[in-house]
Amino acid sequence: MTATRIDGKAFALKLRELVGASALEFAAAAGRKPGLAVVLIGDDPASQVYVGSKGKATLAANMNSFEHRLPDDTNAADLLALIERLNGDDAVDGILVQLPLPAHLDEQSIISSISPDKDVDGFHVINAGRLSVGQSGFVPCTPLGCMMLLTDRLGDLSGLEAVVVGRSNIVGKPMAQLLLDANATVTIAHSRTKDLPAVVKRADIVVAAVGRPNMIGKDWLKDGATVIDVGINRLPPEPGKEKGKLVGDVAFDEASEVAAAITPVPGGVGPMTIAVLLRNTLVAAYRNADLNVPAHL
Ligand code: GUN
Repeated sequence: MTATRIDGKAFALKLRELVGASALEFAAAAGRKPGLAVVLIGDDPASQVYVGSKGKATLAANMNSFEHRLPDDTNAADLLALIERLNGDDAVDGILVQLPLPAHLDEQSIISSISPDKDVDGFHVINAGRLSVGQSGFVPCTPLGCMMLLTDRLGDLSGLEAVVVGRSNIVGKPMAQLLLDANATVTIAHSRTKDLPAVVKRADIVVAAVGRPNMIGKDWLKDGATVIDVGINRLPPEPGKEKGKLVGDVAFDEASEVAAAITPVPGGVGPMTIAVLLRNTLVAAYRNADLNVPAHL
């Protein structure tokens, strides 16, 4: 079998177009554009790139982008004061504090200071709790994007065996929750799982989010599995090259011999994250303006 390549890039582009068109409808109804505030502390090069891309994508989706770049030595009080101001700013529908934070800032207490109704990352404990008990809130962008790719591909997930490899608060745990809500039978596997290959081999759906390059090979996969690869790992550069290749947690070429469908890296899950962030921001805008959220979002 040669697996179908799940084109997350194309899916994300369509979602961004839909959100962009819907943002214009929101603006017509609410008399203002949706707004996303992104806060970046310090000068981590990867975060600089992410924040730049988010700003551009926000503007391209007919929304306002408010960027706050603060120095590496920003203290907690100043950061909390900024978040407090953004919480109270009616032009700001979504607030995203780019992670990781410098070591002197406590991630949990900073995230907890964001209004749950503006927490478009879905990282606040209130939103984690809402997801866990089935109330509407905000779901972290990467797992929600994975879910969109899965339902687009498979339709109804009822009764399917899903194995999520990785248990982070940002991907693994919310991913498992979403799959459970879709009536899959869900296992969360991790670094201490006994006989991990045998556990993964049971799965109709594999979601890999561990950060280990090419860890999952074809021997781990059931024939016909659908594989979602969240890993983004940079291999050491080959001789004469400046940068190493980007690979996922799944060995793509060999896995493609066994799986029915698989996301590539890059071009699979990655582009979905920003698209879903824009979608979450627009949903936040509708809710903050007391307007009904359109069903197609
Ligand atoms: N750092 C890497 N990915 C993300 C993300 O999705 N949200 C935030 N806030 N920080 C990140």
